[in-house]
Amino acid sequence: MLLDTFGRRAVDLRVSLTDRCNLRCTYCMPEEGLQWLAKPDLLTDEEIVRLVSIAVRDLGVREVRFTGGEPLLRPGLVGIVDACARLEPRPELSLTSNGIGLSKTAAALRAAGLDRVNVSLDTLDAETFFTLTRRRRHEDVLAGLAAAEAAGLTPVKLNAVLMRGVNEHEAADLLEWCLEHGYELRFIEQMPLDAQHGWDRSSMVTAEEILALLGERFALTPEATAARGAAPAERWLVDGGPGRVGVIASVTRPFCRACDRTRLTADGQVRDCLFATTETDLRGPLRDGASDAEVGELWRKAMWGKKAGAGIDNPEFHQPDRPMSAIGG
Ligand code: GTP
Ligand code: 5AD
Ligand code: SF4
Repeated sequence: MLLDTFGRRAVDLRVSLTDRCNLRCTYCMPEEGLQWLAKPDLLTDEEIVRLVSIAVRDLGVREVRFTGGEPLLRPGLVGIVDACARLEPRPELSLTSNGIGLSKTAAALRAAGLDRVNVSLDTLDAETFFTLTRRRRHEDVLAGLAAAEAAGLTPVKLNAVLMRGVNEHEAADLLEWCLEHGYELRFIEQMPLDAQHGWDRSSMVTAEEILALLGERFALTPEATAARGAAPAERWLVDGGPGRVGVIASVTRPFCRACDRTRLTADGQVRDCLFATTETDLRGPLRDGASDAEVGELWRKAMWGKKAGAGIDNPEFHQPDRPMSAIGG
């Protein structure tokens, strides 16, 4: 088991498969991109599968989510999913993607055993998409979403970050569009995880503001709290249901007390929190011939030090050195 000193148990593993991305979202990274990890530093496909299998077989992990950067850029993704789907007990397998390339791979991913996808889309307008991501790929994302639905990677969830003066006015339109298409929309408060360290609280669109914007068009009723479990999203029924909308309010309503996550970076470091400032290296021991039991023990120790919360509101809060794109969200 992956327990921490606050009695939380990590059953949800997020695996970053690459730190690279084919978009340049302004709230994430600069136009020129970042200093990407070097190939030899990346875990190989076999190393990833071995670590996931230790987590599932020996450490009680039940859900595995592949993230990035953009995980569809990892050439071995389908093979990794296929190998993870053969593990006993079989974990739930999901993917968080920007949707580019999903139209080509959704069916193969489904056949390999992927259960569902979350796709990031902040706007319905192609020009606003270009402003936000600095790439003209809006059509690709829409095609990816449709392919995911058609392939049965459901429920398809859509993640949206609202930026003041850029796409904030689209909140209700995004929800209407998602309800029509059967996608579950979640709005995410912008977090201090950008590579440029440019986040500031006053420019963040808060959960309260998001709910007010949606309230202008829809009647929202909170879903029973029991339904939330350890999910970061708080959910509301829209106009009495069955449609729903979620808000991931990591900054103004943190959910750290219920956190059930552990993370593995593309270069083989365990992070006990999205906002962790320390990491535990598993790649070195793995390459030096450590046994599964030894690797499992290192992972257990890594989680034992998990703090009570991210502490974004503490005056001593320090943004982690690694940006979101290299952690995997
Ligand atoms: P579901 O299982 O579908 O609910 O997935 P999810 O919402 O946990 O995953 P997804 O990758 O779609 O993440 C959505 C947003 O939640 C992203 O902005 C993540 O960075 C954020 N998020 C995920 N895990 C955590 C976490 O442990 N802490 C915080 N603060 N945010 C998180
Ligand atoms: N704050 C909040 N969400 C972010 N994402 C990327 N960077 C940030 C940030 N600084 C979102 C992406 C994607 C999800 C995985 O995280 O838009 O939907
Ligand atoms: Fe790429 Fe995601 Fe960062 Fe956008 S938020 S640049 S899609 S890693």
